[in-house]
Amino acid sequence: MKEKLIAVGRTAKVYKWDDEKVIKLFNNDINKEAIKKEYKITKKLYENNISNVKVFDLLEYENKTGIIFKNLKAKPMTKEILYKPWKLKKLAFKLAETHKSILKYVDMKLPRTKGILKRELLKSNYLPSSIKEKIIKHLEDLQIGNRICHGDFHPENILIANKKFIVIDWMTASMGNPLADVARTSLILKYGKLPDSNLFKNLSLEIVRKILYKNYINHYMNITRVSFDEIKEWEIVLAATRLSENIPEKEKELLNDYIRKNIEFI
Ligand SMILES: Nc1ncnc2c1ncn2[C@@H]1O[C@H](COP(=O)(O)OP(=O)(O)O)[C@@H](O)[C@H]1O
Ligand SMILES: [Mg+2]
Repeated sequence: MKEKLIAVGRTAKVYKWDDEKVIKLFNNDINKEAIKKEYKITKKLYENNISNVKVFDLLEYENKTGIIFKNLKAKPMTKEILYKPWKLKKLAFKLAETHKSILKYVDMKLPRTKGILKRELLKSNYLPSSIKEKIIKHLEDLQIGNRICHGDFHPENILIANKKFIVIDWMTASMGNPLADVARTSLILKYGKLPDSNLFKNLSLEIVRKILYKNYINHYMNITRVSFDEIKEWEIVLAATRLSENIPEKEKELLNDYIRKNIEFI
């Protein structure tokens, strides 16, 4: 690969393609249908003014599948959070506002959020079947919703360019209840790890995480008028599905504790 590497993500590497474009070249273990889905969704959302990421092409390059995007010439929000902590509250507010701005109705065929979550729960090996069944039953009673859910909305998937906040990485998008998306973001902010965490002592990272979470969730509730209880109803489901992901042991422990403390209330 002679092109200049811009960033390494979890599913792909991103290279400069020409002055105005980048190529997101997916790792070989990523399913081609999923890549096609990311291409189609990002295109549709651009046409509907929900995303600012212009998409050009889906192609094969050096035995890999790639998507050509406009080069956003932007930096990830995580960098801003880590290097400009004095802006933390404002950034948390922006995170909530950006989230609200994408949780819209779009007329397109997308998998259903509840269906995806149920399938993930069914195949998960991390919880005893009694707990799993209770969570599945609880999920079945939750409102289905008809909004675009991003599926992985957190500061690493938001880029900042000219003060604009741009949401990328739409492979996991689905159609469903926005509260599912907000619950997942809450859990990531509460228990997840930020990249580059070695730059900070654990203590300061914990403080950053708390401020970010508190301000994100409070601001989201303020601007949408949803209640904490409504978000919490979804949290246990998203905590259970996140357990099957490739996340640090420490995070798994925290999610497990969360589930065990809250299972009696559903
Ligand atoms: N259109 C783009 N323009 C500039 N940089 C991008 C663009 N898309 C992605 N990137 C960079 O690549 C990184 C990984 O992209 P992402 O779509 O999140 O991939 P992954 O699915 O592997 O997480 C981003 O954090 C960002 O730094
Ligand atoms: Mg990403």
